[in-house]
Amino acid sequence: MNEPKPNLGRSLAEAADRADELAKFRNEFVFGEENVIYLDGNSLGRLPKKGQERLTRAVQDEWGSRLVRGWVNGWLLEPRRAADKIARLIGAKEREVLVCDSTSVNLFKLANAALRVKNRKVILSLAGNFPSDLYVLGGVGELRTFGTVEELLHALTDEVGVVSLSHTCYKTGQVHDMGLITEEAQKVGAFVLWDLSHSVGVIPLQMNKYNVDMAVGCTYKYLNGGPGAPAFLYIREQLLPHLRNPIRGWFGHADPFGFQPEFKPAETIEKFMTGTPPVLSMAALEPALDVILEAGVDRIRKKSFLLTEYLIALVNERLTKYGVSVASPIESRKRGAHVALAHPDAWKLTQAMIAHGVIPDFREPDILRMGLAPIYTSFVEVYDAISMLENILANNLHVKYESSRTGVS
Ligand SMILES: Cc1ncc(COP(=O)(O)O)c(C=O)c1O
Repeated sequence: MNEPKPNLGRSLAEAADRADELAKFRNEFVFGEENVIYLDGNSLGRLPKKGQERLTRAVQDEWGSRLVRGWVNGWLLEPRRAADKIARLIGAKEREVLVCDSTSVNLFKLANAALRVKNRKVILSLAGNFPSDLYVLGGVGELRTFGTVEELLHALTDEVGVVSLSHTCYKTGQVHDMGLITEEAQKVGAFVLWDLSHSVGVIPLQMNKYNVDMAVGCTYKYLNGGPGAPAFLYIREQLLPHLRNPIRGWFGHADPFGFQPEFKPAETIEKFMTGTPPVLSMAALEPALDVILEAGVDRIRKKSFLLTEYLIALVNERLTKYGVSVASPIESRKRGAHVALAHPDAWKLTQAMIAHGVIPDFREPDILRMGLAPIYTSFVEVYDAISMLENILANNLHVKYESSRTGVS
């Protein structure tokens, strides 16, 4: 193994960890017995200790003892409390945010409501957007996709009802210019609908400042809400009276427990609720949000720059000779909290890394995603992960693994 330049060595990582003002937040999370290096917080965040406690209480004391009384003893209020906290993370007013359903379902509801009120059919997006988003949007309207933002902006006409993009691209980590795209879309009378899944909790977001119309996002990635935690949606306050939830469920009714025969939507954003809130799936969310709010997204973003810059420097220094290249934007402010590395054997490398105690993830066809959740990832972990990858490549430890994902879930 080649020795890294001293300025990129492990001692630098150790010094960076000592200087890290967010280092204490690692203690807020569960590190299982295996103590893996976890670089997949962009897919599923780690378990916060307070979330674990809350989950245990929700199961044992609440479901176990209080049974159905749990609804009036607090369960019904949980989605609203979580939404108010997410509002602070995305620069929105509390009454503009709701926690419910999955990101895909929320995207469906908002895109559908938007086209209906605009009386337009066309939706613009990028071909590289998250596939579920494209499937949903294609089912709601006439979807037109583009390779670049410039091409998309060029295609804006008064036929377009919705422009829907991911703020941070799930694959490359590219961050799009929210202010510019929102403004250009609104000039032709279109609504803009952002997917914030890979941004929320790691990038300061400003729905109100940029006059964003609508947004959706996951809570199980950098917000650490847990597998299956419900998603959120945001609607600009002024639009709310004009929008209709295409799914008329009882929780969207003005009086859900009135059991009236006619559907009368709530006047608040709760009209975009559908059915029963997933109490157990969201039990860990509120404590998880508290950790992020306490750390502060500005500080998280600052550390994210340092972590990703360090990883990119290590890759350039030690891995390019093995054919690894950085597929994310090099300019930090144009990059989210994960770094995409391209290599023809990315899938084999992913499997080899996992076998050696480092968990990144893989995206077709050749991308290793290194998700560096700043709240619990250390600089030493980044150093050790890249050293492990170098060792795997130098000794061809990956060649014995499956070459394709066929048959693998
Ligand atoms: C950008 C993006 N949008 C949407 C989704 C899908 O979310 P859900 O499964 O909650 O519908 C994901 C899931 O990873 C995602 O990364």
